[in-house]
Amino acid sequence: MQDFSSQLSNLITQFQQDLEKVSTSDNVEALRVQYLGRKSPFQEVMRSLKDVSVDQRKEFGQAANKAKQDIEAAIEARETDLVNKRFERLGEEEKIDISLPGEKSSVGHLHMVTSAIRDIRRIFEHIGFTQVRHPEIDWEWYPFEVLRIGADHPARDNWETFFVDVPAHPKKGKMVLVPHVSNGQVREMERGELPIRSMNIAKTYRRQSDVSHVPMFHQFEGWIIDKGIRLTDLKGVMEYFVKEYFGEDREIRLRPHHFRFTEPSMELDISCGLCAGKGCSMCKEGWVELGGAGMMHPDVLRAGGVDPEIYSGLAFGWGVERTVSMKAGLNIADLRTMYKNDVRFLEQF
Ligand code: DAH
Repeated sequence: MQDFSSQLSNLITQFQQDLEKVSTSDNVEALRVQYLGRKSPFQEVMRSLKDVSVDQRKEFGQAANKAKQDIEAAIEARETDLVNKRFERLGEEEKIDISLPGEKSSVGHLHMVTSAIRDIRRIFEHIGFTQVRHPEIDWEWYPFEVLRIGADHPARDNWETFFVDVPAHPKKGKMVLVPHVSNGQVREMERGELPIRSMNIAKTYRRQSDVSHVPMFHQFEGWIIDKGIRLTDLKGVMEYFVKEYFGEDREIRLRPHHFRFTEPSMELDISCGLCAGKGCSMCKEGWVELGGAGMMHPDVLRAGGVDPEIYSGLAFGWGVERTVSMKAGLNIADLRTMYKNDVRFLEQF
């Protein structure tokens, strides 16, 4: 049955020609169905095997199987070839090496100042302080006049103030970007609710920019106004905060100072985290200065409509940036780095 062999070889030749013409993987698949599927010429050829004499059947059967395998192999090779061709046509950037490990997308976190604000707020909330907000742009009345710092008072120089170019208020004076959050003291009393145990955390602005100053920074300031509030209460609150925020091993020191709006006034120092209070190049004989505090001046209470004969108040407040940079281990040489938005710096904290 020469017929069978020639049918087989015709089929293969025909197949090879068709295979040359296909240009997509889908077409290759269609060709496979066409040549090897149930109704394909190949199956027809296989059916004609039954007419082959018995002694030749084995030989032809093997030839037919081999032809089938060759067709399958050719199809596979053509498919790979097409994929490769497509890949070659891709631009350099489009090519991907799927064996490379995936790219990890970086996950951000809160800015160090934001998380410090949250930490500070949480610590004070534990001892009953509520966070309140007072204006960051305010009449100079609140950060100055009512705090006994009149327009001509030399203490004004300590708060290098940005003025806002709007008409002045007849009584409350010019509008400023608040240089400290103490503007909240009288504003808080003006709400008319006593006792007060609250904290203002806000942006503050001063005309200063150097290694230890940024023109926009944050301050927090807390107040307690009630009957019988004493200096020892202030000391207790300060000690609680310092130990919670900086660690149990830190000590506090209240050093006499002067502020116009507190009497007595003091500055809060904490034992140096680097030398543990022994004295080193980073501190003043074992102490570092944190911020101001004091008992509210009777005039300030009066300005807020609170009778100093009945009530007394404590106040404390300072910069968040300074506080976070003083936390043990953080030795930030230039405070301005915090706002340069260099992720290599920020992601460390
Ligand atoms: N507001 C003052 C400043 O920015 C700091 C300060 C001092 C706040 C004494 C207080 C205080 O509450 O009692 O320099």
